[in-house]
Amino acid sequence: MSQTQIHQTLARPTLESLGPVTAEEAQLLERLDLSRLPRHVAVIMDGNGRWAQKRHLPRIAGHRSGTQSARTTIETCARLKIEALTLYAFSVENWRRPKTEIDFLMQLLREYLKKEMPLLQSNEIRMRFLGRIDELPAAVQKDVREATEKTAGNKGMVLCVALNYGGRAEIVDAMNAILREHNGHGAASRITEERIARHLYTGGLPDPDLLIRTSGEMRVSNFLLWQIAYAEIFVTDTLWPDFNRARLLEALAEFQKRERRYGGIQDGQPTNEKPARVAGQ
Ligand code: FPP
Repeated sequence: MSQTQIHQTLARPTLESLGPVTAEEAQLLERLDLSRLPRHVAVIMDGNGRWAQKRHLPRIAGHRSGTQSARTTIETCARLKIEALTLYAFSVENWRRPKTEIDFLMQLLREYLKKEMPLLQSNEIRMRFLGRIDELPAAVQKDVREATEKTAGNKGMVLCVALNYGGRAEIVDAMNAILREHNGHGAASRITEERIARHLYTGGLPDPDLLIRTSGEMRVSNFLLWQIAYAEIFVTDTLWPDFNRARLLEALAEFQKRERRYGGIQDGQPTNEKPARVAGQ
């Protein structure tokens, strides 16, 4: 057995790694092929406000409850040995919300990072933040930096939190980074897909194979515009605070039913070459 094969065998998730499961989860797990999970799952966590509204609660109660779904999703993906999980926590458009809600979301994230650090560490999770982080309040920037540094040595899943994130802004930032590189070195410049991908906030990560959106909206909402070129999209009516482990397993099972052709004609086997992908970390 080669080194690579050994590594793959060790890295393969087992049902036991999830711990105790409910009867519904066990049934869903039976349908899952653990050797064919997506490498990168991205999630638009939507519906917190509606969840709260249905219960006559303030919107912030929905966000607080949404952190539990984030926790479950993070832990489950890490234990399933998914390479990367990206959660859309705050978009560049979200600044249009009332200041009290924005302040609450920032505070919630800070609390989350503090409270969940042991869980992140015990699951060997590496944190990364995608977005214009330098525009965030100083205290949030500090916590984000610290969480990135504290988890940098971990060897497990990369957890990306998109914060003050916009897909178009990301492409603009990548282009400016390429221009700066060009000006600095005076080297002849050629734009390629690989070069753009390398300069995105997600540089070095595989593109998402699966994009999950909760609460039923059929929109991409300026999320990972470049990276989701070939992603399978799974939209569920479930509101984010109700998105539990069974709903996540359902999304993974649905992903495995899809035929991925990358514009080619056979399942996963493009006729010529695969779309540009940067090697995963
Ligand atoms: C969308 O619901 C949700 C958000 C803008 C915030 C998501 C943030 C969390 C779940 C907090 C925790 C995140 C992490 C990573 C710890 P919405 O308010 O747009 O809902 P609505 O469409 O029903 O109004």
